[in-house]
Amino acid sequence: MKVGVLTGGGDCPGLNAVIRSVVRKGVQEYGLDFVGVRDGWLGLLQNALVPLDVAGVRGILPRGGTILGSSRTNPFKHEEGLRRVTDTLAEHGVDALVVIGGEDTLGVATELSGQGIPLVGVPKTIDNDVLGTDYTFGFDTAVGIATEAIDRLHTTAESHMRALVVEVMGRHSGWIALHAGIAGGANVVLIPERPFDVEQVCEQVKRRFGMNYAPIVVVAEGAVPKEGQLMVKDHSLDEFGHVRLSGVGEWLAQEIAERTGKDARTTVLGHVQRGGTPSAFDRWLATRFGLYAIDAVKDGAFGVMVALRGTRIVRFPLAEATARAKLVDPSLYDEFEVFFG
Ligand code: F6P
Repeated sequence: MKVGVLTGGGDCPGLNAVIRSVVRKGVQEYGLDFVGVRDGWLGLLQNALVPLDVAGVRGILPRGGTILGSSRTNPFKHEEGLRRVTDTLAEHGVDALVVIGGEDTLGVATELSGQGIPLVGVPKTIDNDVLGTDYTFGFDTAVGIATEAIDRLHTTAESHMRALVVEVMGRHSGWIALHAGIAGGANVVLIPERPFDVEQVCEQVKRRFGMNYAPIVVVAEGAVPKEGQLMVKDHSLDEFGHVRLSGVGEWLAQEIAERTGKDARTTVLGHVQRGGTPSAFDRWLATRFGLYAIDAVKDGAFGVMVALRGTRIVRFPLAEATARAKLVDPSLYDEFEVFFG
């Protein structure tokens, strides 16, 4: 049996750990053959497949990014996309796919699975917003990086008694903002799930200055003011219809400065959150996902993704996982009310 492995969407720490785990168990325990697909779905459109074996995955466990490359390609947006994908699989004798991706890549996997392509999904994204799994790998690393940044920003904010706004990633969901904000002792945390009131943010900022502390405001890139709209870097859409976000942090710092009369600056963490070596937890989770994904392939359990439930790894239908995003529960956000302001 020959298995193709692909990584799609924004990269994420732990992708290589999954690839290594899938290949090691697949070859060593099940005697499977592997082939790597270059740059996500693009590789299947362009017939760009590369050899993948145990020697090729040696030493990649701690490496960030993906040895296979990635892209935000949606094959259904390309002429004869489905036919080109199936032709490539047939030409190389690929019997099944392991698809490592977030909402978009797994959304395509769901459709292809519906068309009869045998595949198993592995949920990845630093945003942690894939439904059906308690955590995606990559999230822990991103939260660690954002928390360290917040820790560092506290001391410089206090030295200058200025408000510092930290913009973190999170297109639809505020998981990174909430976890890093709480871990880093932020005074305000703004998430996409809850439109915010700028006046209230400024009140919280003033209260903090009133206690002789410099406020740290953590804002997810997808957070929106109650009377405003999503702030975008540019309006061009990717193949999944997403705009490029960023700007809310800069806008908020200006509002804070104008409304409170205090100095306010912004730090946009951006891709630093996604690059570099995965945390120990993400290596552990990615490795387990890989082991269970290749088990699912071996069992012929297609149309599912592997998912973390408590400490167990389970199989979850891809169609359910990709039906909607996993958002921050309002009651979870409210737990931290006492720390805000
Ligand atoms: O989906 C993960 C993510 O990191 C989002 O948080 C962010 O909005 C997006 O990717 C940025 O993507 P890119 O860097 O590929 O434009």
